[in-house]
Amino acid sequence: MSQPILTLDFLDKAAAPAAEQLPADVRVSEPTHTGRQRRLYIESYGCQMNYSDSEIVSSILYDEGFDTTAELAEADLVLLNTCSIREKAEITVRQRLKEINAHKRRRPGLLVGVLGCMAERLKSKFLEEEQIVDLVVGPDAYRDLPRLIKEVDGGQRAVNVLLSRDETYADITPVRLNSNGITAFISIMRGCDNMCSFCVVPFTRGRERSRDAHSVVQEAQDLFNKGYKEVTLLGQNVDSYKWQSEDGSEFVNFAQLLERVALVSPELRVRFSTSHPKDITDEVLHTMARYDNVCNYIHLPAQSGNSRVLKLMNRTYDREWYLDRVAAIRRILGVDCGISTDMIAGFCSETEEEHQETLSLMDHVQYDMAYMFFYSERPGTLAARKIEDDIPLDVKKRRLSEIIARQQQHSLIRSQMAVGKVHRVLVEGVSKRSSEHLSGRNDQNKVVIFPRKHYKQGDYVNVFVRECTSTTLLGDAVE
Ligand code: SAH
Ligand code: SF4
Ligand code: F3S
Repeated sequence: MSQPILTLDFLDKAAAPAAEQLPADVRVSEPTHTGRQRRLYIESYGCQMNYSDSEIVSSILYDEGFDTTAELAEADLVLLNTCSIREKAEITVRQRLKEINAHKRRRPGLLVGVLGCMAERLKSKFLEEEQIVDLVVGPDAYRDLPRLIKEVDGGQRAVNVLLSRDETYADITPVRLNSNGITAFISIMRGCDNMCSFCVVPFTRGRERSRDAHSVVQEAQDLFNKGYKEVTLLGQNVDSYKWQSEDGSEFVNFAQLLERVALVSPELRVRFSTSHPKDITDEVLHTMARYDNVCNYIHLPAQSGNSRVLKLMNRTYDREWYLDRVAAIRRILGVDCGISTDMIAGFCSETEEEHQETLSLMDHVQYDMAYMFFYSERPGTLAARKIEDDIPLDVKKRRLSEIIARQQQHSLIRSQMAVGKVHRVLVEGVSKRSSEHLSGRNDQNKVVIFPRKHYKQGDYVNVFVRECTSTTLLGDAVE
């Protein structure tokens, strides 16, 4: 029988709904099945840092006798690794706690814990506000989980939200959750010192600290030895990575770390996120250009295209600086380098003209992809304390919809540029929509789908792209 031909019409059909209606970006632990006594079910919200932390938590608790499970119904311990970045993120978690509460009524022995950024922001207030929560643990206190769980087992409720100046969990080998066995995250730093005025992260994650360079390279090497083909180096601001050995003889910046990881093997792809426009250097861009296995893709959040708003946001760069960095990317890495951004619509006092400057910046850069939000005031941030959140919600939403519409045009243009060319694709798995097709990503981080034939997960395949949507490239493998 001939291969079914994948058409664009086919792509538009919705994927089958999940058994539990969790938002698409929530990650649920996968089962480990190694015969441990108790079962941990962990849901991770927010960013990749949280996904990565959940793997560290699972590792710590594995040593304490917990297997992970993907079924809430089987769990002895439920942990929600939470996000505070926007109000909506917190509302989602509160809602989920209600559902888990209903579940706990049927299983009175079930323990429920809240980890991550909401735990850090709300601290013991969580225990007052959410009666079902037994355990509240902030992002730097996961090593204390075994002790805290013993307290909870003894009938107490337990909290540890101490932030640390040096915790990087460097010595903990994460249990890879949600793993396709091909791509993995490696946290290279924690915290953030930037104090963007809208942002809660410096309060929930504490001071910036970089992890021992040797432990990062070792983790990449171990992953490669286990068959992994791609690592993503994670940090809120990877370009400010700096690590010095204790005797002071060795100093490693981000460009040098990137190079060391790239040297693990030419067959190991290296990605990283997030780059802060104030810190990304030409040295990093030249390192990317030197190594074929460092992917040609940069997530470079602009937040706004207007210099006055950027100053109010305390981003410490202006429109010209940002455009200079984009010009450096184009000069050193070429027009093919994928660039994505984050944008905030309707920040305090943003005028209509200033909003137009965000759109014109987007026109200039032509991003491949963007995460776009309307401004959500977060308690305790500089903006919440000092600047009035004065843009009405309907205006914020209208501006956001204009930003989204503009991005859709640009995503399509950038995808169209990929059509008619051959791309090296790392296969991550079978396409969600057809078992006859494989799905992977090209160097620029675009999803590529092609007929399966004899190829399998983990293969690098050259794919000739013949058509596209704004988010997906479709093609055929070429020998
Ligand atoms: N460290 C990254 C951002 C991490 S937070 C950086 O500096 O680029 C991810 C994104 O959430 C931010 O880039 C921003 O666009 C968005 N964000 C953060 N706080 C927000 C808020 N209060 N309202 C709306 N969006 C916000
Ligand atoms: Fe938040 Fe700014 Fe730090 Fe990013 S760089 S995490 S936006 S404070
Ligand atoms: Fe990430 Fe959300 Fe915390 S974006 S760092 S989980 S506030």
